[in-house]
Amino acid sequence: MIKDRGTFGSKLGIILATAGSAIGLGNIWRFPFMTGHNGGAAFIIIYLVCVMMLGVPGMIAEFVVGRHSSSNAARAYSVIGNSKRWGLVGVLGILTSTIILGFYAVVAGWCVHYLFVSVSGQLAGTPEEVSHYFTTFSSSALQPALFGIVIILATHLVVVRGIRSGIERASKFLMPLLFLLLLVIVVASCLLPGAWRGVEFLLKPDFSKVTASVFLEALGQAFFSLSLGTACLCTFASYFGRTVNLGRSALQIALLDTLIAILAGLMIFPAAFSAGISPDAGPSLIFITLPNVFQQAFSAMPVVGYVISILFYALLSLAALTSTISMHEIGTAFFHEELHISRRGGAWILTAITSVICVLCSLSVGRPDIFGLFGMALLDFCDMLTAQYLLPVGSLLTCILVGWIAEHKTVRGEFTNGDTLPGRFFHLWLLCVKYICPACILLIFLHQLGVI
Ligand code: TRP
Repeated sequence: MIKDRGTFGSKLGIILATAGSAIGLGNIWRFPFMTGHNGGAAFIIIYLVCVMMLGVPGMIAEFVVGRHSSSNAARAYSVIGNSKRWGLVGVLGILTSTIILGFYAVVAGWCVHYLFVSVSGQLAGTPEEVSHYFTTFSSSALQPALFGIVIILATHLVVVRGIRSGIERASKFLMPLLFLLLLVIVVASCLLPGAWRGVEFLLKPDFSKVTASVFLEALGQAFFSLSLGTACLCTFASYFGRTVNLGRSALQIALLDTLIAILAGLMIFPAAFSAGISPDAGPSLIFITLPNVFQQAFSAMPVVGYVISILFYALLSLAALTSTISMHEIGTAFFHEELHISRRGGAWILTAITSVICVLCSLSVGRPDIFGLFGMALLDFCDMLTAQYLLPVGSLLTCILVGWIAEHKTVRGEFTNGDTLPGRFFHLWLLCVKYICPACILLIFLHQLGVI
């Protein structure tokens, strides 16, 4: 065990910091366009099932791994698996989260840029102008990459300060602010004329759009949104105190995360329907569709539209920052502890690696022919590779480790805090981790590979 590595100061701090990791662009950017694309309420129902049946048990499994050894992910996996080979799963997680941070910073950088241009009023214009603005900006060479690096440096600044005075303090301030901003925009959006059709879209399921790939997307979205499968939760849990109830915390965090995703839907769809704009715009939804929505929906009150659009991009930037902090911490803890260098040194290594990925991903938007892989821009490739393959693989291996390989006594001890908690759901949880989660993940994989 590594001494003096710091812990979170309070249970509220734990919930807010971990929820801060979970709540991010996944909720506010990815969830709405996935929902819009896959049939609204029907997708949400499948998503909820994925969160409860696979997400929450998977989160608890990662918590068990992390808190047991109180060390970075690579070491945590090898300690509980009692072999260096299991440590490779931790290393895979660290690699995955580093790739995610690289491309996530690009999108987060777009958000910060949009925050600036919404303040200066440059986002106003006809729908064609707004769309043209986004395409020109995102595919230009220098500026978007710089904004991405700014996000990585801001993350770096929080992470080097450590767990309690960096990550926990930032989360305690940022999370309530984020929630407040979101509520203000939801109320404004739902008060617009014709907003109810957006609400209906979110609540009334249309199962005709549900295909097998919708399940795959819902699963990938659930993993991404809960920060699962990349050793992120494991790293955070390594800073949890011994009295934290892992099951309850996982449930609380998953509920908060889902609440925010649905609120994000309630913010975007009512305004989109009210302005008569199609909600299935894909990834460009928040950068092309929404500026138009804000302008048109609030055309009677342009000042409100102006303020709402500033609040919205501020919200996105904050949500992104609380998530990038968690991704950064995974690698920082690893380099710091395994290379026996200072935390600051570890953080710099991670900042350097992710900045390179960020620049390459950013350049790939304008020149997918040069910065591409398998016919895709690097940015899309990284998103697909991590959300659809690496996250489920990481979770699958974690479930196998916790369900089948780790000592039963150890696992039970972590779940029940050394038998001080009743552990009523222990067997149900173990059933999920041993059979249900691995089976579902495998089935979805086989389907994707065309085997079944
Ligand atoms: N969950 C975050 C979101 O919804 C993204 C995220 C943060 C993440 N840390 C992660 C995703 C680790 C995968 C792994 O935006």
